[in-house]
Amino acid sequence: MGSPAFDGIGARRNYEWMAKWILDPKAERASARMPQVFRGAKAKENSEAVAAYLASLKTSSEVKLPEYKDAVREGEAPTTPLFERLHCNACHVTSGGTVETNKVSLHHVAAKFPPEKLIEFLRQPNAHYTWIRMPDFRLSAKEAKELAEFLTKDSAVAPPKVDDALIEKGKTLVQNSGCLNCHSAKLDNKFTGPQADKWEQGCLAEMPPEKAPQFNFTAAERADLQAFGRSGRESLFRDSSAEFAERQTRVLNCNGCHGQVEGFPALEILGGKLKPESSARFIAGEISYKPRPVAHPRGEPWLEARMPGFKARAQLLAEGLAALHGYGPKTPPEPAIDNELAKHGQKLIGKDGGFSCVSCHGVAGLAATEVFESEGINLAYSYERLLRDYYYRWMRNPLAIDPQTKMPVYFEDGKSPLTEVLDGDAEKQITAMWHYLRLGQKMPAPNVGEAP
Ligand code: HEC
Ligand code: HEC
Ligand code: HEC
Ligand code: HEC
Repeated sequence: MGSPAFDGIGARRNYEWMAKWILDPKAERASARMPQVFRGAKAKENSEAVAAYLASLKTSSEVKLPEYKDAVREGEAPTTPLFERLHCNACHVTSGGTVETNKVSLHHVAAKFPPEKLIEFLRQPNAHYTWIRMPDFRLSAKEAKELAEFLTKDSAVAPPKVDDALIEKGKTLVQNSGCLNCHSAKLDNKFTGPQADKWEQGCLAEMPPEKAPQFNFTAAERADLQAFGRSGRESLFRDSSAEFAERQTRVLNCNGCHGQVEGFPALEILGGKLKPESSARFIAGEISYKPRPVAHPRGEPWLEARMPGFKARAQLLAEGLAALHGYGPKTPPEPAIDNELAKHGQKLIGKDGGFSCVSCHGVAGLAATEVFESEGINLAYSYERLLRDYYYRWMRNPLAIDPQTKMPVYFEDGKSPLTEVLDGDAEKQITAMWHYLRLGQKMPAPNVGEAP
């Protein structure tokens, strides 16, 4: 699924680190997907030549970095590093560590990135590599700088030495060694590999010959690839979105955060909860508001973590998560809003004569009135967020979905304690509130009782 672009890479990555990486990617990062291209007696020399050529590629098309604001947090200055507060450690370790963990070590970043380029990377990880697994935290310039300083604090790096004589040799090697089968560059690809019907040879042989790239496939992976070779390449395109979601949530380590920390929504239910359209925008990082508040109105931190964006995969992930729960990629339209019902809904959500949902939930411009322990999500977002079925299930019994939730159960045996409205019928009241929620940002403010 794509590889980093070579365009301008010499300005973004240090020569010495590249030479080490090219010589043996897996030694630098256990989960590297790049194969070891050069092996045998000349491996080190060739890797250095190629790195010297790449280091000479200093200019690339201008990248315009996004400008995000700092997350505002009132109260005392936090003592835990931003790295922890944002849960970077769900996927990373900062020291060398063992390569046994599936976490990517960041011990080497001072050697790999020129300082300014590390900050740029953090602000837009996918700028030169669309399918990178590192998500986009929409960091402000200040946050990115703080993280970069944290990651490089103990490391002094000598300025890289590049042997200019190697550059031409490296260029030829890049053209002839298959690098350009994966990486893009303004350069002709002169690689000639074995025919693709020889699935038992070259890099797929049990002992790959020296001139073939070494992917370190396990026996099982080799067997899968060979079976795939026999069955024809069409099967590549038969991949269903549900399978995609199952595989990618593992590859991307979504559960490194979800299900680990209190307040993070559980990943398993999301496909049966969110409309795939809004889920796709959310996963891509394109929704500008943060559903759950960062801090209690009194100032103590609440859910400071933010969901990072996984832009390239968001659409398929959202469709796949929905498919795992039997929902299609498009939410079917609903009949027109019934204004009478919406009026009943407004009353029910308000305070006097209603359930006083507004004590915990904001409604469009109106903030929640009495938040004690846990704030709900602003109800003006609910219609665009939630699948209709989920809303009904949640309203009938939120505890059945989330046993930890602070949201009260309002209905029992299909009956409502508010007998005056719509015959006290639970389903009718839930429907009335749905019609009100469907007004979204146009929801007229509900009654919030007497001013104190
Ligand atoms: C969901 C998992 C995940 C989270 C959370 C995450 N990262 Fe990453 N990050 C990755 C992966 C995977 C890579 C390797 C990307 C690649 O090159 O394919 C990466 C790469 C990086 C790199 C570049 C390392 C290199 O060798 O190129 C830095 C720096 C980095 N992450 C910093 C951070 C910081 C800071 C945070 C928190 C704000 C963070 N990451 C959160 C998964 C994650
Ligand atoms: C089979 C595809 C493939 C081939 C062939 C390949 N690479 Fe890579 N390369 C990748 C991928 C994928 C990454 C991203 C890191 C990872 O997941 O391994 C990468 C990362 C890199 C990086 C680090 C970029 C960064 O900023 O982190 C460099 C440098 C690089 N490759 C150079 C080369 C050179 C030089 C060759 C040829 C000698 C080559 N690659 C051959 C797939 C490939
Ligand atoms: C760094 C931690 C982290 C990682 C990794 C992460 N998430 Fe999240 N995710 C969050 C947080 C925090 C929220 C709640 C955001 C909020 O309400 O402000 C969230 C919310 C969501 C939501 C919206 C749920 C709702 O009810 O509003 C979806 C969908 C989601 N994540 C999907 C994913 C997927 C898919 C992945 C992996 C590709 C993933 N997340 C990886 C932290 C993470
Ligand atoms: C005591 C506080 C409290 C009260 C009162 C309350 N809720 Fe909630 N509500 C919550 C919490 C907490 C959540 C879960 C938020 C989350 O997923 O992070 C929630 C979630 C919801 C959701 C799902 C929102 C979304 O977009 O994911 C809806 C819809 C909802 N509540 C409707 C109502 C209605 C209607 C009432 C009144 C009948 C009500 N709530 C009363 C606390 C409350």
